[in-house]
Amino acid sequence: MLTIDYTEFHDTHQLQDWEKNLIEQAKMAMAGSYSPYSHFKVGAAVLLENGAIITGSNQENGAYPSGLCAERVALFYAGSQYPNVPIKALAVVASNEKGITVNPISPCGACRQVMLEYQMISNKPYTIYMVGAGRIVKIEDVKQLLPFSFTNVSGME
Ligand code: THU
Repeated sequence: MLTIDYTEFHDTHQLQDWEKNLIEQAKMAMAGSYSPYSHFKVGAAVLLENGAIITGSNQENGAYPSGLCAERVALFYAGSQYPNVPIKALAVVASNEKGITVNPISPCGACRQVMLEYQMISNKPYTIYMVGAGRIVKIEDVKQLLPFSFTNVSGME
């Protein structure tokens, strides 16, 4: 049997200040979204173990598949600027024309694969906050988000 461990909150009151700050950074990152095709703004914030926070937003393109999700924009930037610094947490949030989505946004499969590989190379689980206006889901290990994952790359197991 497969079970997924996660915690749900209705708002940020029970969260610590650094968690609230990370979520706030993800919300602010939505302002940088380039999403003229979907009109769906996504913001992500990655907190590294050295305290740095890297944000990203979805960047679309007229050649649709060339666009990139907010999570990977932030993760790849973090990976290139701080190659050996483990990730502590990642927050993601999205909005449409009505504002922040009521239910949390859940990262796409490709982003989960990237999230997992960065966790595997630092050998340290990190926490994901999927943020909605009425619900926040907290998952304390990327593996929980991607069961039966592809990890068959040399050095990753
Ligand atoms: N998107 C993200 O940035 N993150 C996700 O987790 C899901 C989807 C983006 C891709 C595209 O720019 C828009 O949201 C609509 O799918």
